[in-house]
Amino acid sequence: MSEHATETRSANAVQRCIIAECNSVYGIRERIYVCPRCGGPLEIQCRVESCGDANVLRKQWAERAGSNEPRDRSGVWRYRELLPFDFDVPIVSLFEGNTPLYDAPRSAEYCGLQDLQLKHLGCNPTGSFKDAGMTTAVTHASLLGARTVVCASTGNTAASLAAYAARAGMQCAIVVPQGQVTAAKLAQSMDYGAAVLEIDGSFDDAMRLVQDLADDASIYLANSINPFRIEGQKTVAFELLQQCGWKLTEHIVLPGGNMGNSSALAKGFDELLQLRLIDRLPKLHVIQAEGSAPMAHMFAEMQKNLVTQDGSVLPDIVPVVDPKTLATAIKIGSPISWKKSLRGVLRSGGRVLAVSEQEIADAKAIIGRDGIGCEPASATTIAGIRRMIYSGHIDRADSVVALLTGHVLKDPDYVNGYHNGTLSLGSSPPIKGAFTNRPERVAAKKSAILESIERRNQTRGVPRAKN
Ligand code: F0G
Repeated sequence: MSEHATETRSANAVQRCIIAECNSVYGIRERIYVCPRCGGPLEIQCRVESCGDANVLRKQWAERAGSNEPRDRSGVWRYRELLPFDFDVPIVSLFEGNTPLYDAPRSAEYCGLQDLQLKHLGCNPTGSFKDAGMTTAVTHASLLGARTVVCASTGNTAASLAAYAARAGMQCAIVVPQGQVTAAKLAQSMDYGAAVLEIDGSFDDAMRLVQDLADDASIYLANSINPFRIEGQKTVAFELLQQCGWKLTEHIVLPGGNMGNSSALAKGFDELLQLRLIDRLPKLHVIQAEGSAPMAHMFAEMQKNLVTQDGSVLPDIVPVVDPKTLATAIKIGSPISWKKSLRGVLRSGGRVLAVSEQEIADAKAIIGRDGIGCEPASATTIAGIRRMIYSGHIDRADSVVALLTGHVLKDPDYVNGYHNGTLSLGSSPPIKGAFTNRPERVAAKKSAILESIERRNQTRGVPRAKN
C-alpha cells in the first residue's frame, strides 16, 4: 500500500456521539468536546477498513521504527494510518512514545505471576503517558488556529500540555487544585512557560471550570474529554503489540483516574481487532486508589446486580465527593470519561478494582527493586494484579502487561516518606513499608562502609515483605 492511498485520512474520519440513542456525527474540524445534541462523550471514528492490508501496515510500521523522518520517529505518528489527520499536516511532536517494555521478575514474584512485563509510559518526554495524547491534541488545536490551550490537571496533563504548547508557540493555561500537585510536576509547567493557575478546590472543580471556559472560541480544551487526545493515546496499544511481536497479551492492567487512558487503550485494541491484527481483545483491568474509586464501586455494584454483560445500559456513576489518596495523580472523584472506559472494560471481560494506600506504596517499592521507578498512581497496577491472582481472576501462568504511567521523579517526596517511615494520608498513622530502605549514617571510614555493604550482602536476593 502506498502512502498516497491514505494521505487524506481526515476525509475518512468523523466525531461521533457514543450514546447509542443519539449517535450524532460531526466533522473533525468542529471544536466541540461533548455532543452538542445530547451532551454525551464524543469519539473519533476512522474508517479502519480503508487503512490498507494488515500485513502491509505491520511491515510499514516496523520499517518506520528505523527511519529518521520526524513523523516516523514519533511512536504516535508512526501509526498515522489510524489517526484522523492528513499525512502532510504540520505536527507538534517531541518524539513521544517509543517507551520500553521491561521484564520485571521481582514484581512478578511479588504478585504471584510467572512472568510480568511493564510498559513504562513514564519514559515519555515529559515523564508521563500524557504526551502520546498531547501531540495529537495540540496538533489539532494548531490546525484549528486556537490561541490558548487549557486543561484541568492533577499535574501530569498540565506538564505535558505546557510542553507541547511551548513547542507550538501557543499560550497555555493550566488549572490545578492548590496544594495537591507534586512540586516536580508544577516545576515542569512553570519551566515550559504555562500560566499556572491554582484554585482553591479539587481537581473535579477545576475540570468543571475548564469545561465552562471551553465555550470561549479562542480556547482549546486539552483534557481527555477531547477525543483527539484519545487518538494519540490509543497508539500505545499498537506500539505494545508491535513490541510483543503481535502476540496478544491476555491481561492489560492500568491505573484509572479521569478514565481517559483506559478509554484510549480500549479504542486502540478495538481498532486492531477490526484490522484483524489481533483475533480477540485482551482483558483490560483498571485499578483505582481505595479513597478515590467511583468506578470500582460502580463495577462492584454491577457485579452484584449482574448487569455486566455488554454495558449497553449503564447506571449512573456516583461521584466520590471528597476523594483521598496519596497517589495524587488519580485523586479524582468524578471521572469525566467513565462511560467510554467502562464500555471498553466490559467488552474486554476485564475488571475495575480498588487497592489500599499500603498496597500501592509497597507495590511501588517492589517495582523500584526491578530497577524501574514509577510514580505512585502507576503502582496501583502491581497491587491490582496481586489481588486478581489471589481472587483467581488472573492465573499465575497468564501473560500480563502493566502500564506504568508516570516516572519515579514525578513525586520524590512520596518516595522519601515511604523509605523514612513518614508517609501518611491525612491523620492516619504512617504507612509501615514492607520494603523500606532508609539512608544510613556511616562514619567517613572505609571499614564502616565495607561493614555496611557486608551486612546488606547477608540479606540480598529478592526482598521479602517485612510485614
Ligand atoms: N497515572 C498517572 C501518572 C496520571 O497522571 C493519571 C492521570 C493517571 C494515571 C490516570 O489516567 O486520568 O486517563 O484515567 N492524570 C491526570 C492529570 C488526571 O491531570 O495529570 P486517566
